[in-house]
Amino acid sequence: MTATMAAPHPIPYQGSKRRLAPAILDYVPAGTRRLVEPCCGSAAVSLAALHAGKVGEVVLNDSLAPLAALWRAIIAAPADVATAYERLWRAQLADPRRGYDRVRDRFNRDGDPAALLYLLARCVKSAVRFNAAGAFNQSPDRRRLGTQPARMRASLVGAGALLAGRATVTSGDYAAALAGAGRGDVVYLDPPYQGTSGPRDQRYHQPLDRERFIAALERLLARDVPVIVSFDGRCGERRYGEALPARLGLAHIELAAGRSTQATLLGSAARTYESLYVSPQLVLQRSRLGSAHPDHRDPGRVRLARRDRQGDPRAP
Ligand SMILES: C[S@@+](CC[C@H](N)C(=O)[O-])C[C@H]1O[C@@H](n2cnc3c(N)ncnc32)[C@H](O)[C@@H]1O
Repeated sequence: MTATMAAPHPIPYQGSKRRLAPAILDYVPAGTRRLVEPCCGSAAVSLAALHAGKVGEVVLNDSLAPLAALWRAIIAAPADVATAYERLWRAQLADPRRGYDRVRDRFNRDGDPAALLYLLARCVKSAVRFNAAGAFNQSPDRRRLGTQPARMRASLVGAGALLAGRATVTSGDYAAALAGAGRGDVVYLDPPYQGTSGPRDQRYHQPLDRERFIAALERLLARDVPVIVSFDGRCGERRYGEALPARLGLAHIELAAGRSTQATLLGSAARTYESLYVSPQLVLQRSRLGSAHPDHRDPGRVRLARRDRQGDPRAP
């Protein structure tokens, strides 16, 4: 696979950072030993980092155990996952709705990783949703059948090849994954969105406790571990999610994430920006080397905490 091809991304996943990954990777220094992703989801940033040759290893963690099991299966035997996916995909063709329900029932009985992959490829917004009893209850998207098997196979085999021998997969709380990160690593944190994952909207299987998350970040920063966090954002002037507190000393960067579907429907020109909070040392190395992806806001928008401004070439 050449570096000009896009990184493989086999797991369709709501909130995937696939499109933003190149801009996020700008802040990961080339030659980084290990990228730690405690809320990995579809692992878009880890896959892109390995694909670009920026990092030697990755740690993939997610509290959704069947998702971690899916990653393990993709690494161990991607062709077998592809074959199992293809079987499920073809079995649905006679009656896509009943086919989907059968796989969902089965997944809720045995947590089979290939069944989860099929459900994510077929369900509304590729969004995992669970009921109070912990059963996957997302509906199928009636307008599509899910990724074609040949395309899925190529993505699975590509991802398996990238990750084999270079990935550790764990399933648990982000705090445990953070405890294993050290100064030679870069941590990329993309927790569930605030405001959309409360008890009334189980966008992911666990809502985010903001204070606990900030306390975990403080402990990590006290150990000098470089970190990149995706957190809040805005569409035009409308903000969603609450910003991270300035006392953390992280630089706030806004990544252009395109025009929201809602804004487009309303004929609005409002653009969406996703916040990135970055350790000052990662911002400084990027400004020394320049960006490979000028696809986000003028770096003049980067705000460094006062105590970190010394040595920043952009500081007034
Ligand atoms: C915004 S998504 C991450 C998306 C990911 N960056 C990608 O590119 O696909 C947040 C992820 O955090 C996971 N999660 C939720 N609570 C968690 C926790 N306490 N510890 C670890 N992971 C958690 C969810 O299962 C979900 O996969």
